[in-house]
Amino acid sequence: MTYQRFDVAKTFGVQARAGLEVLGFADETHPHIPVRKPYVFRNEVLRDILAFLRDPGGDGFFLTGPTGSGKTSLVTQVASRLFWPVQAVTCHGRMELHALIGQFVLVQGETRFVHGPLAVAARDGHLLILNESDLMDPSELAGLNDIIEGQPLVIAENGGEVIRPHPKFRVFATGNSVGAGDGSGLYQGVLRQNLAFMDRFRVVHVGYPEPTIEKEIIKAQAPRLPDLIVEKMIAVAGEVRRLFVGAKEGGAELTVTMSTRTLVRWAGLSLTFKGAPKVFEYALTQALTARAEPEQREAIHRIAADVFGDYWAGSQP
Ligand SMILES: Nc1ncnc2c1ncn2[C@@H]1O[C@H](COP(=O)(O)OP(=O)(O)OP(=O)(O)O)[C@@H](O)[C@H]1O
Ligand SMILES: [Mg+2]
Repeated sequence: MTYQRFDVAKTFGVQARAGLEVLGFADETHPHIPVRKPYVFRNEVLRDILAFLRDPGGDGFFLTGPTGSGKTSLVTQVASRLFWPVQAVTCHGRMELHALIGQFVLVQGETRFVHGPLAVAARDGHLLILNESDLMDPSELAGLNDIIEGQPLVIAENGGEVIRPHPKFRVFATGNSVGAGDGSGLYQGVLRQNLAFMDRFRVVHVGYPEPTIEKEIIKAQAPRLPDLIVEKMIAVAGEVRRLFVGAKEGGAELTVTMSTRTLVRWAGLSLTFKGAPKVFEYALTQALTARAEPEQREAIHRIAADVFGDYWAGSQP
């Protein structure tokens, strides 16, 4: 396998020391390289990820933060730019370690062992991304402890096959909690995780971006939306987040929030339905408030009407 160096500033569009490079893969054609999408990188967390990719030192990397803040896409978009193949799984409460390591499946009347994403990633030097890892049963996840540290994976079911972790194998996990369960009650299914498992991870918090960054994100995905409107949408998001129960201090009025994912959707739908009466309200309903309780929907629309002023009744983005 051959590698190539990437200039950090150029590759990720961030401010970085001239000549600062990071090692990625030479082969751009591997089928497991994630599809490249526009992504606005934030300096600090990018720096942390690149340091981890360079030298994990026996750790995994855990990204925590509210829903739709850009955790999963951060890892996949870094991988996409470094041509680093990825094995991604979305965890759930009934998921077992076997699903990650591999299992026997019936192929044309014969049982054959098929390696799971963990075994493939460890063997071939891919990134393993465990999305929503805090939904998984902690006793199942604890089976990952050794391999994260760099110990070989022994697959008893497959005749005691031994997989030595490839030097480019890395483990990422994402979740809305930090392994201590969900205190807000909003993230259903989150389980308190095993302390020894969490102890093996570097933990980085990815919150909703600053308004200037969020503006760039929306402009990249809905370039035809005027700046003024984008700024108003971000102001509405800020107010909704402030009133959201998850926001703790002074909040506790809303049980839905406006994630970056939702904001991007609102912006996109406003362009899709351009010309429709009250287009911003229509798009906001589809993007977010149709799934809110009626009083909350009304409250959010009131906030938006205040922020948008005369534009709220309009039909043109
Ligand atoms: N920095 C960013 N640049 C570009 N798009 C972004 C960025 N952050 C978030 N987004 C948008 O938000 C969407 C959701 O991001 P992502 O799936 O990474 O969130 P998440 O934090 O993993 O959410 P969840 O906790 O619900 O899994 C992305 O598909 C993208 O459209
Ligand atoms: Mg995610």
